[in-house]
Amino acid sequence: MRTQVAIIGSGPAGLLLSHLLYLEGIESVIVERRDADHVKSRIRAGILESGTVGLLKEAGLGERLNEEALEHRGIYLQWPGERHHVDFVRHTGRPVWVYGQTELTADLMAAREHAERVAFYEADDVALHDIEGSHPHVTFRDSQGVRRCVDADVIAGCDGFHGPSRAAMPATGRRTWGRTYPFAWLGVLAAVAPSTDELIYAWHPDGFALHSMRSPRVSRFYLQVSPDEDGDEWRDDRIWEALATRLGEGHRGWRLRTGPITEKSVLPMRSFVTTPMRHGRLFLAGDAAHIVPPAGAKGLNLAVADVALLSRALVAWLRDGSEELASAYSDTALRRVWRCTHFSWWMTTMLHRHGDDFDAQLQLAQLHRVVASEAAARELAENYAGLPIEV
Ligand code: FAD
Ligand code: PHB
Repeated sequence: MRTQVAIIGSGPAGLLLSHLLYLEGIESVIVERRDADHVKSRIRAGILESGTVGLLKEAGLGERLNEEALEHRGIYLQWPGERHHVDFVRHTGRPVWVYGQTELTADLMAAREHAERVAFYEADDVALHDIEGSHPHVTFRDSQGVRRCVDADVIAGCDGFHGPSRAAMPATGRRTWGRTYPFAWLGVLAAVAPSTDELIYAWHPDGFALHSMRSPRVSRFYLQVSPDEDGDEWRDDRIWEALATRLGEGHRGWRLRTGPITEKSVLPMRSFVTTPMRHGRLFLAGDAAHIVPPAGAKGLNLAVADVALLSRALVAWLRDGSEELASAYSDTALRRVWRCTHFSWWMTTMLHRHGDDFDAQLQLAQLHRVVASEAAARELAENYAGLPIEV
């Protein structure tokens, strides 16, 4: 089989890239390791920047988003005895949107099916070949066990942190940076109306907590736990008690509504960047090239920003014959990646309990500063609400 762009991975990066290329008349084929239902049901990110929403709408993906996404003006920052609102719209003119990654993935998969773009799910032994030559191709066994080969002009590695694309790039000239944080998140989904109008990021001596949401009827919570935590040790009543304590139940009469917990899992936390994001005819996008800890709500938005740049570069190259944007892709994308890597590290470091009491006092001093200073609040707001695709 022959196509113009072989895309490995059917996460948000791979699906959106395929869609943006399709709109410009460029063919692609997606090769994905998991089955389509698994891909659709993975509960992950929840916040979309305005730039992401604008791009999705321009790409004709706004129908359900318009109806179901919740517009938020900002977030609450909280620590014992205090809760403050940081108003992104006042500081930057831009809100953010609550729209789960599951919803976005469903929209992207529906668009792919509607356009009858080819995708192979449940692909095994996915391997990349000849990325330095002029005949790159991807081999795999399809869901029926049949050996297949997709020949392409370029390969897009959108296969997340554990996929084969990054590993297919030579070690020479490659640099990676990373940090594994000494804590993790216990993520909890609950069938209960949110107890807040906008997200609450809470610093607490027992550890960080986040009150997020998915819809007017579904809440999403996170609790800082240790990286080797066994999620099963967290029975529902223990979760609700920890959330109520860390989110400040009782402060000015605020109460946490509880309800049935429908999903819980422990998420490790790391920062990771690899460069360059292109080698020969292989381009990396999204989590395949970088990981951020989720406290800044950046992972999904970064994947979208990469793909916005990459789709433009591939259209210019494959349709119009100009390789200039493709040559600039890695450097252009990495400027934004490092900015978001810094912001995600900063939010993580400010909000999670680690180190000693001296560290705790520094964190509280930083939190006070963010809510007391227009300049400091604005810095957080600009980064959280999202920077332009090209920074
Ligand atoms: P992915 O979504 O990881 O997609 C990669 C795809 O490649 C997957 O479908 C995978 O199955 C496929 N793949 C892997 N290996 C192969 C192979 N060998 N062959 C073919 N296909 C392969 N971000 C936030 O902002 N907020 C959050 O709360 C948040 N929670 C998260 C929770 C978890 C458990 C994880 C893993 C990530 C979370 N993130 C969060 C990050 C966010 O979800 C990612 O940044 C986003 O999914 C990146 O999209 P992607 O398409 O680059 O990668
Ligand atoms: C989520 O709703 O899953 C979410 C929201 C904000 C974050 C991280 C996760 O910073």
